[in-house]
Amino acid sequence: MQNIIPKPHTVMAAPGVFRSRPLTRIVVNSADPFVVGIARQLADALVPVAKQPLPVSDGPAREGDISLALTAHASVGSEGYLLTVTPTEILIRAFAPAGLFYGTQTLRQLLPPSIPGAEKGGWEVAAGSIHDVPRFAYRGAMLDVARHFIAPRDIKKYIDIIAAYKLNHLHLHLTDDQGWRIEIRSWDKLATHGGSTSVGGGAGGYYTQAEYRDLVEYAASRHVTIVPEIDMPGHTSAVLSSYPELNRDGIAPALYTGVQVGFSSLDADKEITYAFVEDVVREIAALTPGPYIHIGGDEAQATPTDDYVRFIERVQGIVNACDKQMMGWEEIGQARLDPSTVAQHWNGAQTRAVIKQALKLVLSPATFTYLDMKYDAATHLGQDWAGELDVKKAYDWEPTRLLDGIYEQDILGVEAPLWTETISTLDEIEYMAFPRLLGIAEIGWSQPDGQNWEEYSARLAAHGPRLRQMGVNFFAASQVDWK
Ligand code: ACM
Repeated sequence: MQNIIPKPHTVMAAPGVFRSRPLTRIVVNSADPFVVGIARQLADALVPVAKQPLPVSDGPAREGDISLALTAHASVGSEGYLLTVTPTEILIRAFAPAGLFYGTQTLRQLLPPSIPGAEKGGWEVAAGSIHDVPRFAYRGAMLDVARHFIAPRDIKKYIDIIAAYKLNHLHLHLTDDQGWRIEIRSWDKLATHGGSTSVGGGAGGYYTQAEYRDLVEYAASRHVTIVPEIDMPGHTSAVLSSYPELNRDGIAPALYTGVQVGFSSLDADKEITYAFVEDVVREIAALTPGPYIHIGGDEAQATPTDDYVRFIERVQGIVNACDKQMMGWEEIGQARLDPSTVAQHWNGAQTRAVIKQALKLVLSPATFTYLDMKYDAATHLGQDWAGELDVKKAYDWEPTRLLDGIYEQDILGVEAPLWTETISTLDEIEYMAFPRLLGIAEIGWSQPDGQNWEEYSARLAAHGPRLRQMGVNFFAASQVDWK
């Protein structure tokens, strides 16, 4: 029980082991489709170990079963769980279904990634008990699918991996100067024209609304909430190229395939701008069961400050009218914000204006969480404007010590963005994200006492075979003594 990432709240080893029986089943005491789905996912995940899917049953549990039960006290919260392994049973208890999901993720890590050989494997788990609850409610990763389009099947694999490390939000940066990646039925050229290319001028792509709904459902079955971002008023060249009437001079620019930022802007003075925003936000909200719609708001250097403030305040009203909470990059702190709005810190410049309004923050400090930063000077992908980010640095930081005047209660959570100016394949995404994202997942979930690189890196080493088993092209950094 010593190699779990993120580190659980409390782990107690006990004598003995649980050995699988020929008739070991996964028993669930709930007909909730999400819970039954968790049991099936566990059965599938154990195939490399158990050699065949374990049967899923509604019980009652008997000796030798794995039980998932919604019987824990409310004090474990909406995501916490209790995992007990004895020689006669494995029992995961939670108060809410998400806790059962996380209990099964922990159980997977207690088993070897695979047991080669034997047709029908016996397997065992050392006895003990784990009591686990997350530190922060929001634990996220972000993919920039705008600079380079990322296909739905690749997004699904990323969701599988992040969910295994107990991240619960996937922020999709759906639009930028170089591409618009989601079908909007009322403004169809956004996707068909604005989504037709990418950085470097290669092929583009976009998600149909049906594909996007499927992604949202897939994520939900792994307790991951998709946070859609429509970036505005800057980062909008693909919009402006698709609709001349949104431009101040009525002339649509050519599609943009470079990597500059801060040159495009929606026009805060034009009424049609807000008609556009209302239509897009309405369609995105209808695709979004989660609470947040992210409106970007970063790097609007081409928008005069007065216009920017007026624009953000009006867009916030549009988002709230769709019963959603607005999220935006820290620059939105210049506007007067609703208490429900969440700001995302990335480089510090305007975070103080957010704190003054007592809003909740998601922390994505570029120096510690931007997964597109190079590991070191030899990394062939990525950028280095926020410095190099090695595996130790991505783990070894503390949210409450990031900025003066930010305390635990101001922090909704952490998120690790991966921008894709230099990255175009899933292999490259995995190389940049892993293993650094595991360190950030631990910061989001685990208590800070005992944070220790030596101890963590030994645990991380044990995840090399696990990541390989999942087919993850991770960077085997020399800072870690990999197994
Ligand atoms: C950002 O990196 N422009 C949020």
